[in-house]
Amino acid sequence: MTQISIVPLQAQHVDACARLMVALPLWGESYGVTYDAARVRFESGPADSADVYVALVEDEMVGFGWFVRRGAFARSGYIRLLGVRADWQGRGVGTQLMDFTEETLFAEDKDIFLLTFAPNEGAQRFYRQRGYEQVGVLTDYSGPGIDECIFRKRRPSQSWPGGDRRGPHVRHLCGWH
Ligand SMILES: CC(C)(COP(=O)(O)OP(=O)(O)OC[C@H]1O[C@@H](n2cnc3c(N)ncnc32)[C@H](O)[C@@H]1OP(=O)(O)O)[C@@H](O)C(=O)NCCC(=O)NCCS
Repeated sequence: MTQISIVPLQAQHVDACARLMVALPLWGESYGVTYDAARVRFESGPADSADVYVALVEDEMVGFGWFVRRGAFARSGYIRLLGVRADWQGRGVGTQLMDFTEETLFAEDKDIFLLTFAPNEGAQRFYRQRGYEQVGVLTDYSGPGIDECIFRKRRPSQSWPGGDRRGPHVRHLCGWH
């Protein structure tokens, strides 16, 4: 089996991450991200309270993951980016990046949230398979006509002291489910 290492992003990975990002249709086409914009993003990420990791096969960069502790509602983990080079997709790289990300975030946070571009059904299947549930949609969020699905995963075997305090009234008002 191929050995994949997950390591923190370093300056030498920035160019490959930016090229990987713009080569993927999700960012290069749907969001119109340019190489320069992607470079700036990866250069500033680690200084921007984010955890940015890359997946390496030997010394080759084949994927990246970007997450923020307490990055959702100043309370829950937030996964901002996950990308695997096209020729490495379907070979377990995304799974390893997500295993690492979830292990890190669930050590501190009870929930993880992420957004997916609404037409990106492949990624949504990937996340559902990992236990994420769609909890909402943000319409026109990243731009006009660009809707994002909100996904949430709860820390496995999470329980609340005192049990579930929602009454039917609260459930209705808050739209919880
Ligand atoms: C989504 C993505 C990160 C998944 O990474 P990956 O390395 O290809 O995934 P894995 O090889 O670990 O696959 C794990 C499982 O998810 C499934 N899966 C992964 N991508 C899938 C897709 N696009 N459609 C359907 N199923 C998918 C695999 O079939 C596999 O299922 P199995 O365990 O039953 O065989 C990767 O395909 C990618 O970078 N896509 C383009 C960018 C993107 O959409 N990023 C997410 C932004 S929100």
